[in-house]
Amino acid sequence: MRVLIALLLVFTVSYGKNLKLKDTPPELSNYYPPKSGKMEFLELMHTLSVSMTGVVVNVREKDWENAKKWAERLQRNYLRIGEMVGKWDKLLKKKEMEAVVRAVKEKNPSAVRMNLQTVGKSCVQCHKNYKLSAKVKFHSPDFTGMKLEDPVSGMKYSIEDYMKAMTDDMKRLKVYSIDGKKDRARRAGFNFIKRFEGLTQMCGECHTGKKSEDVYFGIDVEKRVTALREAVVNVDVIRIKRNLNWLSENNCGKCHNVHETPYLLREKFGRKR
Ligand code: HEC
Ligand code: HEC
Ligand code: HEC
Repeated sequence: MRVLIALLLVFTVSYGKNLKLKDTPPELSNYYPPKSGKMEFLELMHTLSVSMTGVVVNVREKDWENAKKWAERLQRNYLRIGEMVGKWDKLLKKKEMEAVVRAVKEKNPSAVRMNLQTVGKSCVQCHKNYKLSAKVKFHSPDFTGMKLEDPVSGMKYSIEDYMKAMTDDMKRLKVYSIDGKKDRARRAGFNFIKRFEGLTQMCGECHTGKKSEDVYFGIDVEKRVTALREAVVNVDVIRIKRNLNWLSENNCGKCHNVHETPYLLREKFGRKR
């Protein structure tokens, strides 16, 4: 039996797929916060995409004047990829891009199509290699270096340490209440609630307004916290468990899906950007 399990393990491990994310060239970060106030590279991408549609629809409608305008705009912006990120210059199909502009001037739809397709392939190829990496690096929440004031000790904690302390309270509350150690259970329970409520101090670092905060700390959650507090005072094991489980699912779990998972992925690229 043991051998079988060991074999199975070997199989699952050797057939498991490894996720590989190619890091983006360092220059790319010049076009995203915090280095830039805007997302210039992403804006460039949307301009490219619109220009491409501009060429296609105008060629189809034989509006050659406007087709030329969009083809030149496409070329100008396509070349900017290499100007912004030197390392990516060699990935561009510059000759074919030039040929698109020429074919539009010569009013040759099939030559436009053929060369545009090659240009389009260069878009797809780069997206395959780098788009997910760019999204993880530049669009996921960044908790690096963030501190929270711990309402129990009054000290500044990293997010990780804060989460650990709060989880520890939660587990102690369960253990002590089941063991019938009422005073300890109450202390752990009140500490948990304090730390739980203290979580909202960080939302404003990244979100403006209270709308996002209300998703995880709205009226339903407040009701549960009130119910939990009551259960802690009475050391009511069943109600403690029920309310903690609800909070785990609706607060901790949901917030982790949105914030922790992409953040852990981001950390794979290291602290430097
Ligand atoms: C902002 C939304 C948010 C909420 C709400 C939240 N967490 Fe977290 N949690 C995070 C983030 C972000 C991390 C990753 C921190 C890191 O790795 O530096 C994390 C990490 C953790 C970890 C892993 C710590 C480690 O050892 O790396 C635990 C355990 C945890 N949270 C427990 C909880 C519990 C229990 C709750 C609810 C009572 C909760 N969290 C609520 C965002 C949240
Ligand atoms: C050398 C690399 C590279 C080339 C070439 C390239 N892109 Fe991109 N593109 C990216 C990266 C990286 C992203 C992700 C940017 C982000 O999310 O901030 C992106 C994102 C996009 C997006 C946004 C999609 C989304 O899911 O949000 C569009 C639209 C787009 N590109 C269009 C184009 C078009 C059209 C071309 C070709 C004419 C092109 N791109 C060529 C690297 C490239
Ligand atoms: C480090 C920055 C950061 C912190 C701190 C943070 N968030 Fe977020 N949050 C994000 C990012 C990034 C997204 C993805 C969507 C976006 O870009 O706005 C997001 C998405 C969300 C969403 C999904 C829908 C929406 O509103 O965009 C909710 C809800 C949310 N956060 C709630 C919270 C709450 C509640 C807290 C505090 C406990 C919190 N966040 C703390 C960065 C953060």
